[in-house]
Parts: sequence; structure tokens; C-alpha cells
Amino acid sequence: MRKFDRVIKRVSLLIGFSLAVTLFAGFSLISVDLGLIDFRTVNKGEWKPKSIATDLGNEKKAALIKLGFDVITKTPELIGPMSKDIKMRFAGNNLTCQSCHLEAGTKPGSGSFVGVYNRFPQYRGREDKIGTLEERIDGCMERSMNGQKLPHNTLEMQGMIAYMKWLSEDVPEEKEDIYKGFVKVDLPEIKADLVAGKATFEQHCVVCHGNNGQGIRPGENAMYQFPPLWGNDSYNHGAGMHRVITAAEFIKGNMPFQQATYDKPVLTDREAYNVAAYINSFDRPQKSNPEADFPDKKKKPVSTPYGPWADGFSAEQHKYGPFQPIMKFYKKEYGISKNK
Ligand code: HEC
Ligand code: HEC
Repeated sequence: MRKFDRVIKRVSLLIGFSLAVTLFAGFSLISVDLGLIDFRTVNKGEWKPKSIATDLGNEKKAALIKLGFDVITKTPELIGPMSKDIKMRFAGNNLTCQSCHLEAGTKPGSGSFVGVYNRFPQYRGREDKIGTLEERIDGCMERSMNGQKLPHNTLEMQGMIAYMKWLSEDVPEEKEDIYKGFVKVDLPEIKADLVAGKATFEQHCVVCHGNNGQGIRPGENAMYQFPPLWGNDSYNHGAGMHRVITAAEFIKGNMPFQQATYDKPVLTDREAYNVAAYINSFDRPQKSNPEADFPDKKKKPVSTPYGPWADGFSAEQHKYGPFQPIMKFYKKEYGISKNK
């Protein structure tokens, strides 16, 4: 009987041992597999922008870069209406830069800051001169943020520039295009349909931005969870987002939030076009002195909704389209190709 016991013991030991071996082998197979996945994605060129959370490590200007990131993600608290220092209230609304330049400017197709530093100084039609990156930020401060220029010598401005420069280092050339600007929209050759735009808004946007487009914020002194799309606390009428073409491109690649991406939009081009017109059909703050924009009026985007223009098309058509006839006019009369 004792012999039999020993056999049992040995057999169970053996079973236990082989089980352990199998488990171990299985586990190492999994880890080898995980290793392989990593290896393959690296090889496929799965490239990601730098992240403040993980990649600031040995940076010399880490504190300045982090400040820039904070300004971009908490704009109203640092340089806007919620700033404790009244003199620092340069932004006029409670949006953040990140409200439009999503994920702190690292999401492709949302006017990303990845690579942006390398494209400045550049020619700008709105001012008809070569402008710096600081001056480009001025543009968003005076329009998207409905405020004033942030002085270029402030740490906050230098921080944003340092952050954008850092994000723009070592970006593979073929990636810059994906990150740059917005996705293209095939514009319907008819005037935008506000009734259809309202229906799209109710179906896809109301949950977050609210029935009245005023967004959601936990209190007067808290940042928006979902930003407003029109009204006093929104971008002003001189902003790029107030052009139906630009808004349609932004919306197609980015909204509904956390669903749409530049390569997997949720809305059709027609829906994006109509809903862009719908949100821009409401009142919003007026930019002062809009006549001064685009000293050379021929360079004005066709969807700039305020005059004067270098053509005879109506204000209504510049705002809601159809835009193709205006584009054709500039091509024929002035030899200028326009896409916005
Ligand atoms: C309401 C949306 C909105 C907000 C808020 C906003 N921007 Fe912009 N920004 C835009 C749009 C739209 C464009 C592109 C405009 C165009 O095509 O003419 C742009 C362009 C830019 C560019 C140039 C990008 C490029 O690739 O050339 C920079 C830099 C920029 N914004 C910085 C900022 C900063 C910094 C803030 C915050 C202080 C900010 N923006 C806030 C909408 C916004
Ligand atoms: C799931 C919630 C959600 C839905 C649905 C959604 N949005 Fe947004 N939207 C956001 C958030 C959040 C932001 C700001 C992003 C940030 O701060 O990180 C934003 C930003 C915007 C902006 C730029 C900032 C501003 O206030 O002007 C526009 C324009 C916009 N959304 C339009 C739309 C439209 C049009 C739809 C429907 C097609 C839509 N959104 C659906 C959450 C949402």
C-alpha cells in the first residue's frame, strides 16, 4: 500500500510539474507574442507625439514646456477670465486652446501643434505679411479666444512656443501632413441646409453641447466640461471656426468628441457641412475692425462671412455657400485657387 501511495505521489508531482511547465510555456509564449506586437508596431512606424506625462524627462526647458501645456489646457485660469491676476486676463472667453486643438494639440486633424513650429515664420493672407508663430497665436487670442494679444515676452507665451517646439522635434516627415490642419470635406454644391443641420445637431451634438449650444460647466468659476458653440462665451465672428468650410472640416474629423477621428469620421461630409452652418447661424461676439483683415481682399477665404470682398457675391452666399461658384470666380478672374 505504501508503494502505491508513493506512485500516486509521484504521478501527482509529475502532473503538477507538467502543468507548471505548460503554464510557464504558455505564459512565455504570450510574453513573446506581446514582445512581437511591440516589435512589429515599432517597425510599422507607429509613431506617437510626445506626451507631457511621460516624455519630459531630461528636458532642459521642462518647466517652461509644462507651463505652455498648462496654458493650452487651462487657458481661462492662466491667461483668461478666471485668472486671479486681473492683468493676466488676455483671453476673453472661457474656452481653452485645447477646445479646438484637441488633446493639448496632439490629435491629428484638429489643427495639431505637432510640427507647427517648423512651418513658421510663414506668409499669412489675413495680415498680408510674413508672420511668426507668436503672431499666429495672437490671431487665435483675438478671435477664437475673443480677447487680446498675449504679450510675446510673457512666460506664458514663451511656454506655449517652447511646448510647440518640443512637440515639433523629430516628427517624421510623412507624419507632419496627417497632423497638420484639418481633414478635407467634399463640399456639397448647394447652400448649407440649416434645417438638416439642426437635425444633425440634435442627433449628434446636443448630449454634450446642450440644446441651446451653451455647453456644460460645473459652475461660474469652473472650466467647461463641454464648451459652448455660440453666444457670449464663444469664439467671435472673426474666428476661423466661424467659417463654415473650416468648421465643417474640424467637425468631420473630431466630433462627436472621442468618436470621430481624422481617418474615421462619424458624420458624412454633407452632415458636417450643414451642422457647421447651423452652429454658426447664431449670435456670437463681434470682432472689432474686421474690415482691416486681408489687406489684399483677393486673398480672403471665400467662406469669410464678413465683407468687404473682392467679388460681387452676397454676404449670405459667403456665409452659407454654395462656395464653388465663388472659387471658380477667383480662379477665372485672378488665377487664384482657393479651398476655403
Ligand atoms: C474656437 C476654436 C479655436 C480655439 C479656442 C483656438 N484656436 Fe487656434 N486655430 C483655430 C483654427 C480654426 C485654426 C486654423 C485657422 C485657419 O485655417 O485659418 C487655428 C490655427 C492655430 C495655429 C496655426 C496652426 C497651423 O498649423 O498653422 C496656432 C499656432 C494656433 N491656432 C494656436 C492657438 C492657441 C495657442 C490657442 C489658445 C490661446 C488657440 N489656438 C485657440 C481654432 C481655434
Ligand atoms: C461626447 C461629447 C461631445 C459630443 C457628442 C460633441 N462634442 Fe463637440 N466638443 C466636446 C468637447 C469635450 C470639446 C472640447 C474638447 C476639449 O476641451 O478637450 C468639443 C469641442 C467642440 C468645438 C470647438 C470648441 C467650441 O466650443 O467651439 C466645436 C465647434 C464642436 N465641439 C462642435 C460639435 C458638433 C457640431 C457636434 C455634433 C456633430 C459635437 N461637437 C458633438 C464634446 C462633444
